[in-house]
Amino acid sequence: MCGIVGYIGSRSVVEILTSGLRKLEYRGYDSSGIAVHSGKEIKVYKAEGKLQNLDDLMQKHVSETASSTLGIGHIRWATHGAPTTVNAHPHTCNCGKLVIVHNGIIENYKELRADLEKRGCKFRSQTDTETVAHLVAYHYGKLQNLTEAVRQATKEIDGAYALCIMHQDNPNVLVATKRNAPLLVGIGEGEYFVASDVPAIIEYTKKAMYLNDNEIVTLTRENMDLIDIDNNKISSKIEMLPWEPVALSKMGFKHFMLKEIHEQPDVIRNVLSGKLFNTDEPINLSEVNLTKADLKKLNRIQIIACGTSLHAAMVGKYLIEEFCGIPVDVEASSEYIYRKTVTDEKTLVIGVSQSGETADTITAIKQSKERGSHILIITNRPDSTMARFADSLIPVNAGIEVSVAATKSYVAQLISFYLLAIYMGEVKESISQVFSKNLKKELVILPQKIEQILAHKEIIQRCAKHYSRYKDFIYIARGINLATSLEGALKLKEISYINATGYAAGELKHGPIAMLDETMPVLAILMKGSVYEKILSNAEESKARNANLIALTDSDDPKLDDLFDFIIRIPEVSEVLSPIISVIPLQLMAYYIAEFLGKDVDQPRNLAKSVTVE
Ligand code: G6P
Repeated sequence: MCGIVGYIGSRSVVEILTSGLRKLEYRGYDSSGIAVHSGKEIKVYKAEGKLQNLDDLMQKHVSETASSTLGIGHIRWATHGAPTTVNAHPHTCNCGKLVIVHNGIIENYKELRADLEKRGCKFRSQTDTETVAHLVAYHYGKLQNLTEAVRQATKEIDGAYALCIMHQDNPNVLVATKRNAPLLVGIGEGEYFVASDVPAIIEYTKKAMYLNDNEIVTLTRENMDLIDIDNNKISSKIEMLPWEPVALSKMGFKHFMLKEIHEQPDVIRNVLSGKLFNTDEPINLSEVNLTKADLKKLNRIQIIACGTSLHAAMVGKYLIEEFCGIPVDVEASSEYIYRKTVTDEKTLVIGVSQSGETADTITAIKQSKERGSHILIITNRPDSTMARFADSLIPVNAGIEVSVAATKSYVAQLISFYLLAIYMGEVKESISQVFSKNLKKELVILPQKIEQILAHKEIIQRCAKHYSRYKDFIYIARGINLATSLEGALKLKEISYINATGYAAGELKHGPIAMLDETMPVLAILMKGSVYEKILSNAEESKARNANLIALTDSDDPKLDDLFDFIIRIPEVSEVLSPIISVIPLQLMAYYIAEFLGKDVDQPRNLAKSVTVE
């Protein structure tokens, strides 16, 4: 994983690199580093831990770096080698003249390392990346041309990489290349930027070129040259990025996560606008390039996703099967890609991803595209790698999500699934007009119901304070809210490091019930509807085993007060729409528990917002 930046031009490079890295923190944050070229020599600065440590280090070296206008930078999420200073990038060859930053995984690094060691290279780190530094330096020694050395080296590398490289003897050259990892070049006046993602460069330029796999770009202050791995010249495909620089601010909230939770009512309004004009009219989903005949031909749908997006996919399955009668499978991308899957041209494959850059989901989408399936992508980043594989693209319009724990993007994905399922049901005429009209009416007022929950969040805060001393939690639900229980438990695990597991409530008695005693709170998602009474019975069974019981419910039945130790009441909603609002208190619960425990809410340990390695 990781984020990389590079710059060649006439501005002071340190500020550009560090501010770019700050925008890429979502890709990892366990160490960082930069290398700058003074015109005569290259200096490397690295720091373990958060980016602030690198900022502090650079403050001490202002005088020696201020005039440098060429450099590369990196923010790391450790894959090979612990997150130490020595394993932080940039990595150098043995003479220290060649420096490199890398995002991805070099799969054959052990073989390459063994060869290079035989040739006399001395390795200092445990990373796969250092291999590339020595390999490019080896070819540079023979060829004395940085681009050629990079080209020869990449022919020997297996795996995924985005690389940015400079060499002390080339004070006017920056080389970058990629395979199965994103990389773009920003184009300014007499200056070029290299970055893993748009936010790192957008405040400097909107003119950019996305690199394709196996392309190598050579940047000087005056020029940009693009070739492929076989040394064919390629004309550059410059585009204007449809982005505005965004000043990311917490807007007075203590953490981005809390701000993003509070943005959810507006996110829903935003996702609905333009698609649901009038409850009497059909959903307008012109993004879906499937005709009625195409939809009728489909014999199955597969939804592929990871993490929180996988939970949105589970709700999507429920809706599509319910409204359209088409069988739907949901699978974690990482499982889908290593088995024989029955996917063909009669299968609609839906990829769900906040970032559009999750490596496993990209691989799964590529595989299903090769098998002839129509690819529908639901993503918060319509400019992402995944979006480029889409035959149909539904942008979820949640806005930039900074906190690693996904909240508003989840709710935006859910709304997108409701729109898609209603749309498909309307096109296939598998739902009645009355049913869809009622659903639309309720969808439109959901933001107000969420606002009511947010207005009374101190109840959840109290609940969180009380339960923050517990070490284990069980969340139970059935039916459409099973995904909510998994998502609620995931939120708690991610940011508070408390063990929490979501279970189908009916499965409790087939094993998990053995764990119940007074040390294990059970949170029941008890929304009115078809499974209400069943969950109530499961809660009774838990109480009989001394579990401390919490209810999240839209019922005002006073009898619940006798059974449950704590009740979080939320506005009433029809069962089919309940996942959209039942998740909100669980996001708040996770947030407040983590906050009471003093955890790093927005950047929890070991995680990254975008997982760009398999
Ligand atoms: C990481 C993030 C999760 C996210 C998952 C899938 O693990 O920490 O919050 O749900 O990746 O990411 P995607 O961008 O594909 O939705």
